Amino acid sequence: MRMRSDVAWLSCLQLLCAVSTFKAYPFTPPLDLDVTPRTTVSVNELWRCRRFSGSTVNYNTLLLEEEPGLLYVGARGVLYALQASDISSFSRAIDWEAPEERKQQCLDKGKDNKTECFNHIRFLQRFNNTHLYTCGTHAFSPQCAYIESKEFKMSSTFEEGRERCPYDPAKGYTGLLIDGQMYTASQYEFWSSPDIRRNSPNPTLRTEEAPTRWLYEADFVESALIKESVNSSIGDDDKIYFFFTEKNQEHNLYSSYSRVARVARVCKSDRGGLLTLQKKWTSFLKARLVCSLPDYEFHFNVLRSMYVLEGPKPEDTMLYGIFGLEWKNVKSSAICRYSIKDVQQVFEGPYMENQEDSGTKLTEYTGKVPDPRPGACITDQLREKGIKLSTDLPDDVLHFVRRHPLMSRQILPLGKRPLLFRRTVDYTKIVVHKVTALDGQTYHMLFIGTDEGWLQRAVEVKGQLHIIEELQLFEEPQPVNNIVISEKQMSVYVGSPSGVVQLPLSTCHKYASCFDCMLARDPFCAWDGAACVGITSHTDRSNLTQDILNGNEGCAKSAADDPVQHRLRSVMAGDDVLLQCELGSNLATPQWMRNAQQLRDYGMNSGYRIGTDGLLVIEARPEQSGNYSCFALENEVRIHIVIYTLIVHLPPPPYPTLHPNSNGSNLLPHPLPPQFQSLKNMEAMYISLITVLGGLCLVLTVVLLYVGFCVQSKRGKYSVQSAAQAERKRKRNDRMELKTVSSHCNGKANTHDGLLQIVPGEAQVSANKELPPAPPLPPASSNSELEYTNGFSATLPSVLRKMNGNSYVLLQQTDGDPTSPLYYSFTEELNRILEKRKHTQLCSKPDESSV
Ligand SMILES: *[C@@H]1O[C@H](CO)[C@@H](O)[C@H](O)[C@H]1NC(C)=O
Ligand SMILES: *[C@@H]1O[C@H](CO)[C@@H](O)[C@H](O)[C@H]1NC(C)=O
Ligand SMILES: *[C@@H]1O[C@H](CO)[C@@H](O)[C@H](O)[C@H]1NC(C)=O
Ligand SMILES: *[C@@H]1O[C@H](CO)[C@@H](O)[C@H](O)[C@H]1NC(C)=O
Ligand SMILES: *[C@@H]1O[C@H](CO)[C@@H](O)[C@H](O)[C@H]1NC(C)=O
Ligand SMILES: *[C@@H]1O[C@H](CO)[C@@H](O)[C@H](O)[C@H]1NC(C)=O
Repeated sequence: MRMRSDVAWLSCLQLLCAVSTFKAYPFTPPLDLDVTPRTTVSVNELWRCRRFSGSTVNYNTLLLEEEPGLLYVGARGVLYALQASDISSFSRAIDWEAPEERKQQCLDKGKDNKTECFNHIRFLQRFNNTHLYTCGTHAFSPQCAYIESKEFKMSSTFEEGRERCPYDPAKGYTGLLIDGQMYTASQYEFWSSPDIRRNSPNPTLRTEEAPTRWLYEADFVESALIKESVNSSIGDDDKIYFFFTEKNQEHNLYSSYSRVARVARVCKSDRGGLLTLQKKWTSFLKARLVCSLPDYEFHFNVLRSMYVLEGPKPEDTMLYGIFGLEWKNVKSSAICRYSIKDVQQVFEGPYMENQEDSGTKLTEYTGKVPDPRPGACITDQLREKGIKLSTDLPDDVLHFVRRHPLMSRQILPLGKRPLLFRRTVDYTKIVVHKVTALDGQTYHMLFIGTDEGWLQRAVEVKGQLHIIEELQLFEEPQPVNNIVISEKQMSVYVGSPSGVVQLPLSTCHKYASCFDCMLARDPFCAWDGAACVGITSHTDRSNLTQDILNGNEGCAKSAADDPVQHRLRSVMAGDDVLLQCELGSNLATPQWMRNAQQLRDYGMNSGYRIGTDGLLVIEARPEQSGNYSCFALENEVRIHIVIYTLIVHLPPPPYPTLHPNSNGSNLLPHPLPPQFQSLKNMEAMYISLITVLGGLCLVLTVVLLYVGFCVQSKRGKYSVQSAAQAERKRKRNDRMELKTVSSHCNGKANTHDGLLQIVPGEAQVSANKELPPAPPLPPASSNSELEYTNGFSATLPSVLRKMNGNSYVLLQQTDGDPTSPLYYSFTEELNRILEKRKHTQLCSKPDESSV
């Protein structure tokens, strides 16, 4: 009966295939920017994962100090000092919660008692050799304090934090401590304007609010010092860059976008003006950061994270930004990369002007620019002219600065396109690390966190990203809020709402073969002739092989044909057989050979379906017997995975004494092989079988009716699940996916809910005891070498494939024209999935006729 279900389901599959429109996968990525992670590692497969979690939440502020080997963590109401070598081993803590009366005042102000009325640590950096400096929201009245780092003790006196730390724990905020001075940017108080500030001990500087506002509802994500004074021929100054998203005032440009990503900068030695711009920056300039898909009028306008990667020289500095969309319900991310030289060039270009007569309209300023250049730092040349400090700047320059904070040109990403673009993923945080590989080249490795608690590791090769793996860090989805890397500990630390996670920078040993090691293209990993090893632990590198550039060279060709697993499958004609083949890589495509001939036709009438996890032989015919080899094709390498010998037995003549009045074949699971027909208890068995089937039939009918009703009333639920699954499983580009699991009614994953379900089961030749219990076959003789199973197992959730287990992918879809990525937006994808579900549901009807 279970088998009948499978058959019924398969005819459904056929029907479904017939009715589905075989158009190109609608999300054809432009320029191949939508990269699939090569491997997917779920939370229980993480290797050497260490976790730290205290009794509080929001472990978002991280400070790593390689020398003492400590990771300082700021959480809600507590600061921790963790051992960087193993964060789970030992820790010291400082409790710093706001006192009760402060919390009460916070509540009296009408603030949220679950989030806002606590002391969230927002700032934690080194102050001097002996002390750290920290600031917290302190139940909506920010405070700062020094921490003696050796003893990890907090100073007894606190400083007013109102000028340096936002009141709101969720407000965008960034800060730096440079030479004892604190540079911060945020919208500090609820009602105040956003501001970039430099605080004591030197004169406090701020941004201007009138007549021209310099910042509009700015949401800050990052700041960085770039030491441009080093070896500067003109005696230029170090600058501090701030990265944020603000309200779009450029109404002529991108008028459909309400927000815009920006970079602003100030000079470190700025002291403000004497009269004009007194206690205000005289060097504030801002410009637009563009991250858009080429050829599409489509912009990623919200900056979510920025990493400033220092080069050997200041002018080699690179910026890596994560951008998203301003629509909260559309998940989508892009990574754009900028050269600091392009940023500098824009700051040296023309200014934008606010035309007084036309309200807020901004146009490029074409008039005379005063000298010295407004917004520039004080250089040697100016010092020679007697302008030694910003307070010596002439008034006309300062007046100009005051009214022209925005540059006219935009900063374009390198290559004028994103490095990566992903639909249905919201990235939250990026960190870039430089790795010198065996070829002596330095590669940029990207560590990218998502809003659902995944970490992706990618390597940039020739301007393209290759995502080596995606790691699921948490059981409960939660955003990755901070990432820190330690080369010394070879670890990456991730801060999130529920705790801190420590993972090794690479897990080379998981690549089992030379080709697997090459295809991974992990700059940390190389093949030593016997295993994939980390290159940092090998001083003698003469025997190591690595190919980051191409990812397929260096292994002996024969290695791809290493001895493979041999399995035997023996089935009755008419059965459906799943020949499983685990590819191990999301980038590999399966290829099947039958008796050394490639199977090419997987069409409707071929009798074959190919999936990501195996080959389905539908209603097997005796002439389909033979040797089936599965290969994984990836990056021009073909690796033999498994070989099956399939034997399809001819059906025997119908058993004459049963069902004299009916042909009965519908009821019988399958005709039995001749060697079993002589069994004496046959008749008794069939009678009990029929009884059982009758009972089951009743149950199934009820369940089907119920589920049918339930599914119909819960279609909204489906769409949500499907969207999440679709992302994970998108076996992408030009393929279309058919899912075989059709229902989680009531939200429970019940494999016995009467809906049809194929779960690929694994049955080894020797594992007779693991035969699925359901099929009413006579007991197989214990020494039988054959395996009377078709590879399906209906009720073993334990063999569910980690990611792809339930997905069948039809190959041979043709590519259509790449169209605008957003044109096929979420809604469309959901509709498509719903449409598919509808067919699946219709299809489940034939099941009824089989009982
Ligand atoms: C917060 O306030 C709500 C309603 O005022 C109350 O039910 C809840 O218990 C409070 N939570 C905490 C953590 O105090
Ligand atoms: C570091 O700063 C703290 C706080 O201002 C001060 O007490 C301490 O003496 C300073 N340490 C050094 C080495 O300057
Ligand atoms: C600055 O110049 C000196 C001498 O030319 C050189 O040794 C040094 O590496 C340069 N520093 C940077 C950061 O470029
Ligand atoms: C490197 O390979 C050569 C030849 O294959 C072998 O003789 C030598 O021992 C190997 N060296 C190491 C360090 O494994
Ligand atoms: C299948 O493989 C087995 C063992 O490798 C071999 O004996 C047999 O002849 C092969 N069958 C075919 C049809 O190639
Ligand atoms: C049994 O099958 C034969 C031929 O397939 C058909 O003519 C006959 O009507 C069937 N009998 C029943 C009871 O279904």
